[in-house]
Amino acid sequence: MRIRKLSIHNFRNLKVSSLSGLEDFNFIHGLNGSGKTSVLESIHTLALTRSFRSRKMQTVISFEEEALTVRGEFSVGEPNNGVIDVPRETLSSIGVRRSRQDLVLVKLNGEKLASVGELAGVLPVQVINPASFELLEGSPSVRRQYLDWGVFHVKHSGFYELWPRYRKALQQRNSLLRRGNIGASVLAPWDAELSATAALITAARQRHFVQLSTAFDEVYRRLLANAAHLAEDNLDEALTKMPSLSLEFYAGWKDAEDAPFSEVLKAELSQDLKSGFTRNGPHRADIVLKCGRLRAGEVLSRGQIKTIVCALKLAQSKVLLSQGIPTVFLIDDLAAELDERRCKAVFLELIDLGVQVFATAVKESDLHNEWCGDRPLKRFHVEHGNINAIL
Ligand SMILES: Nc1ncnc2c1ncn2[C@@H]1O[C@H](COP(=O)(O)OP(=O)(O)O)[C@@H](O)[C@H]1O
Ligand SMILES: [Mg+2]
Repeated sequence: MRIRKLSIHNFRNLKVSSLSGLEDFNFIHGLNGSGKTSVLESIHTLALTRSFRSRKMQTVISFEEEALTVRGEFSVGEPNNGVIDVPRETLSSIGVRRSRQDLVLVKLNGEKLASVGELAGVLPVQVINPASFELLEGSPSVRRQYLDWGVFHVKHSGFYELWPRYRKALQQRNSLLRRGNIGASVLAPWDAELSATAALITAARQRHFVQLSTAFDEVYRRLLANAAHLAEDNLDEALTKMPSLSLEFYAGWKDAEDAPFSEVLKAELSQDLKSGFTRNGPHRADIVLKCGRLRAGEVLSRGQIKTIVCALKLAQSKVLLSQGIPTVFLIDDLAAELDERRCKAVFLELIDLGVQVFATAVKESDLHNEWCGDRPLKRFHVEHGNINAIL
């Protein structure tokens, strides 16, 4: 499945733009402020009805305009070029319109969706941009979001229904805790619901995490090896120098394998009452990346962290692809973040995954033709919100 054509209206400085003849790899270059990130945001909006840069879509709608629209046309029934055979798709178009009054209209194959939520999961997109590097150094919520992105897209994980149930029970329990002076019996129905949903959420996360960490090991080793090889370093030496990394899943409460969540809720009740909220649970889950016994974020260099973050993102897509779900990658200004050999190693992985890629840079020469191997490439130049294909 590939986006073949993108039409963008009133999206920041992109007034009326169209990108057609899109290929597996699409390179967009232009000066700062020309509209490159806006193109990537528009694709994100197609997938999730919102930008990855601004929470408020009102700020994304072009000044003085009433609404923005993005429309993507897809190639139907095209075999995937990747290592895994993806089933033929039936998606031909997605259209998203967002107004200043915050009305959201979504059309799939030309038909209006009754609920915007139905768009969820149709077009998985992954963003690699300077903010992605928060994955290691940011709060646990960034890593939860990363993990749950994968769990959510996995078929039959039930995550989409489970999470609102868990959140509702958590809110109810917290509001009772805030009242204070209540007995365990008042909390019992919410504790039961929390425990039931927590077990299912955690099991789904754990299942996905096992696959994710295997994929991560593989991708990370290859990224390092390829980056070293491309620099014509001694590969063995580079590999022995590489920090040995391990990923650990933290369910959101201590000793989760031995302690069922219902027991934890009981044991921690007096502390929860003092705090006025539920201090343990899947809403506190995390992925811990360790370098030996230390937290990776504390010992690695910026360059190493960036490589690891790329490996984490690529690993997610590898797991999804193994289940027949291809991802679209939106890569903003990678050349400003990684040196050329690391960029090339990242692109080798993208080629291997067979995914569609949109990548931006300031200069045309920052994005190299050879990064795409023998896969088709299309280039665009953006200037003051005008996008032109380079023939
Ligand atoms: N709501 C808006 N309406 C019109 N222009 C906007 C809006 N929001 C941002 N812009 C402008 O859009 C331009 C494109 O920004 P951006 O996509 O970030 O460019 P680039 O990624 O190429 O540096 C910027 O010059 C910015 O000032
Ligand atoms: Mg930008």
